Amino acid sequence: ENPYETLLVTRQGKVGLITLNRPHALNALNTLLISELNRALKGFETDPGIGAIVITGNEKAFAAGVDIKEMHTKTFVEAYGSDFLAPFDKIGNIRKPIIAAVGGYALGGGCELAMSCDIILAADNAVFGQPEINLGIMPGAGGTQRLTRAVGKAKAMELCLTGRMMEAEEAERANLVSRIVPADELLEEAMKVADKIANLSQHAVMMIKEAINRGFATTLAEGTRFERGQFYSLFATEDQKEGMAAFIDKRKPEFKNR
Ligand code: CAA
Repeated sequence: ENPYETLLVTRQGKVGLITLNRPHALNALNTLLISELNRALKGFETDPGIGAIVITGNEKAFAAGVDIKEMHTKTFVEAYGSDFLAPFDKIGNIRKPIIAAVGGYALGGGCELAMSCDIILAADNAVFGQPEINLGIMPGAGGTQRLTRAVGKAKAMELCLTGRMMEAEEAERANLVSRIVPADELLEEAMKVADKIANLSQHAVMMIKEAINRGFATTLAEGTRFERGQFYSLFATEDQKEGMAAFIDKRKPEFKNR
């Protein structure tokens, strides 16, 4: 039985799959969805049987933004007082890798949600944008920051200032997405990538995620120093001994996450 109203949450082997499920509203992100999403992510994060997570929507929309119908009457006091976008930040703190499998619209908060994930795989019909300016507001869940880091200042400025949407090919050229796959193969491909990651040594996997993210938050010198410390610490794991022994013995490694 599905304990969520706005999500479908399942697992395949070591991969947790979260499908955003408000299709009538193009998966607009309302308060309930964001809180359920955090709950589902936390559940997978603390589940030792799960090594990677996929978030997806449907063919028409990954998510068309924060729910405008829920948001439009908010006063400043309500918005600031409830800090209703803060739960978006928590997604970036999940330690296991998250793959966004994006088909159709990823707009506003939907684009920001995808950018909070670690890998974005785009269907060939994906459309990305930060159209908040057309509503008299601005991106508020990381759009001005993460989009700029991903695609650079000129393109981020243009997209945020004009609301222009970009299709999958442009998003790939701009390095927003790791690659494009045919729409009908999107989920299968995302699950394949997640399954590959989930069967590797999870200490190394989580440390790689942490080190890459650390690099965005600090200087190159600090980042490389952090990376080196993490690298050395992996020599305390059995998986490092197993991985290297397997290479030398010309066999497949059997990682035990120890
Ligand atoms: N919030 C609430 N409802 C939404 C929504 C949103 N962000 N996006 C779409 N919907 C609803 C529509 O209101 C419509 O509902 P009804 O059938 O009840 O009228 C339904 O989903 C289908 O949408 P459309 O009829 O508009 O579908 P379309 O194919 O004609 O257009 C679209 C698709 C271009 C994506 C259009 O829906 C659209 O422009 N959506 C809004 C995009 C947007 O502005 N996103 C930013 C939101 S603000 C934000 O995210 C803030 C932030 O940064 C934190």
